[in-house]
Amino acid sequence: DHGNRARLLAANDAAREFFAEQLTAPGAEAARSFLGERGFDPAAAARFGVGYAPQGWDNLGKHLRGRGFTEAELTAAGLLSAGDRGSYDRFRGRLIWPIRDQTGQTVGFGARRLYDDDKGPKYLNTPETAIYHKAQVLYGLDLAKRDIARSRQVVVVEGYTDVMACHLAGVTTAVATCGTSFGVDHIKIMRRVLSDDTSGLGEVVFTFDPDAAGQKAALRAFSEEQRFAAQTYVAIAPDGLDPCDLRLAKGDDAVRRMVKSKKPMFEFVIKQRLSAYDLDSVEGRVAALREAAPVVADIRDSALRPAYTRELAKMLAVDLPEVTAEVERAS
Ligand code: GTP
Ligand code: MN
Ligand code: MN
Ligand code: MN
Ligand code: MN
Repeated sequence: DHGNRARLLAANDAAREFFAEQLTAPGAEAARSFLGERGFDPAAAARFGVGYAPQGWDNLGKHLRGRGFTEAELTAAGLLSAGDRGSYDRFRGRLIWPIRDQTGQTVGFGARRLYDDDKGPKYLNTPETAIYHKAQVLYGLDLAKRDIARSRQVVVVEGYTDVMACHLAGVTTAVATCGTSFGVDHIKIMRRVLSDDTSGLGEVVFTFDPDAAGQKAALRAFSEEQRFAAQTYVAIAPDGLDPCDLRLAKGDDAVRRMVKSKKPMFEFVIKQRLSAYDLDSVEGRVAALREAAPVVADIRDSALRPAYTRELAKMLAVDLPEVTAEVERAS
């Protein structure tokens, strides 16, 4: 199967090159204006290898068959989709982000819709292949890994445009999941990058949309991996902006400030849980305590747990012994 892997990598690399060339061709105006409107100049696009998949059913397929790749190889790489009347280009009329593994090899693609009459999803990714497993990929890790190891910090953002915006703004530790929510496999990958020494696992800063569903999944992943959780932070951009929009509206400095304004994940989660209750009433405070205690009980760090127990008592204006007892009950 190693030979096959090598062929799929070669096909992806040839596709990456084709898409990159297409971005400068006539016909790619929509792609170039999309990039410009997002604040990405040609140098930025080149740094991330951004490309364009032309409209039409057989541009890439024809090009790569001409380069000696078989239909079966291109389908196995996820570059062609199989239909009733033969196979056709999976990515058509889309902006293309090559998804590179840690070593910089292109293992798949993320592709954004550019045309209003496109009925497909906003983002389309490479399907699961022998070399692409979306649960085990972090977009931008190849560019970020050195600074992640050096600073012992990872910034997790939602999308390809956010990774680009962060890196251009100087937050060079930013990565994103690719069309899937953050899971335990992503934590394992980050841990591998971070744990070149045993002094500590470093810190992970999440920038979620304030009410995104992805939040829930990330929190679940972190409660399964509690050792990490102590160093987990959340940074939320003002006005519900994502890092890309924030950079456009307020500049590079605002992106850096957003990351610096990080709050511990626990604080964020507890506040979120408390927000559903009326803390002015005794009943509300008791219900809120019951809701928030399990979060504190999940904190494995024996110094952090009492600290957050005190914090929770303060937030709720409930006596510390009562909160301690509830946390112990929830443990
Ligand atoms: P715009 O600013 O609206 O152009 O998009 P964005 O780049 O801010 O992306 P958005 O916040 O909508 O999504 C963030 C990330 O979620 C994207 O980079 C994708 O990885 C993923 N995503 C969004 N929409 C879809 C979709 O329709 N399908 C899949 N598979 N993933 C998606
Ligand atoms: Mn595999
Ligand atoms: Mn979003
Ligand atoms: Mn977004
Ligand atoms: Mn956006």
